[in-house]
Amino acid sequence: MRSIFTCALAILPALVSGTPVQRDASAEVLTGAFDCLGAGAYTLCQNQWGARAGVGSQNSTLLSATGNSVSWMTNYTWANGPNNVKSYANVIHNTAKGVQLANIQSAPTSWTWDYLTESQGIRADVSYDIWTGVPSSGDPATSASSFEIMIWLSGLGGIQPVGSQILSNIQVAGHSWNLWKGPNANWQVLSFVSANGEIKDFNVDLNDFFKYLIANQGVAPTQFLQAIQTGTEPFVGTASLFIENFSVAVNP
Ligand SMILES: *[C@@H]1O[C@H](CO)[C@@H](O)[C@H](O)[C@H]1NC(C)=O
Ligand SMILES: *[C@@H]1O[C@H](CO)[C@@H](O)[C@H](O)[C@H]1NC(C)=O
Ligand SMILES: *[C@@H]1O[C@H](CO)[C@@H](O)[C@H](O)[C@H]1NC(C)=O
Repeated sequence: MRSIFTCALAILPALVSGTPVQRDASAEVLTGAFDCLGAGAYTLCQNQWGARAGVGSQNSTLLSATGNSVSWMTNYTWANGPNNVKSYANVIHNTAKGVQLANIQSAPTSWTWDYLTESQGIRADVSYDIWTGVPSSGDPATSASSFEIMIWLSGLGGIQPVGSQILSNIQVAGHSWNLWKGPNANWQVLSFVSANGEIKDFNVDLNDFFKYLIANQGVAPTQFLQAIQTGTEPFVGTASLFIENFSVAVNP
């Protein structure tokens, strides 16, 4: 889940919400493997870090960015390397970070999304990727990272998170999850995988996850929240994923 930020600075006019499947003349499309684009409170990045494990392409479109909300979509077709993630097209919040977990009062988030098209046998997740560490700031997947907290709202085609499943059907934030745990490079990965299928309308307080991990999984309350990303990790398949509306805030 390497992230590279070579962000084209762009001032985006707020778009009037329209029919998302239609190409909006003012929508901005990213086609380069590591292209990024300012998206209001967020930055949208293609992040095709694993593309060399297969063949294919992916393009991401910023549909609108208004206040703390963002709407975008990504189309991809990837083949080969069925066990390798090809990319993590994602939005990262530009300022919801730099707070110690113990000092977070709430972290409300809402995410409505759907596949407009998805090929048979697709292998992909739709997920949060949240990074914490000892320093108050640090890019995702770097030496500054201690924990990578994933929340999988979808995981199709039998794919699995890093590590092994350590708990099943735990209740956190009003949903049922299987919890996976394992190391990756210099950090630990903790992945909550929806135990009840896809969640396409998600509305929770992320602080419930942080409190759970502090109480039950040895995550230090002194850890700093370094980044909140949301997006999709395709392994193989062809899809058009539509993020109707995403927002997250961190209230210290
Ligand atoms: C993505 O696919 C949708 C159909 O699902 C299409 O309307 C849209 O134009 C495509 N976007 C790009 C950038 O190819
Ligand atoms: C992405 O855009 C490139 C360049 O326009 C195009 O060749 C490719 O087919 C697109 N990929 C998808 C999955 O839409
Ligand atoms: C997007 O979600 C936020 C937070 O729930 C909400 O305030 C906003 O009105 C939503 N925007 C749209 C266009 O639905």
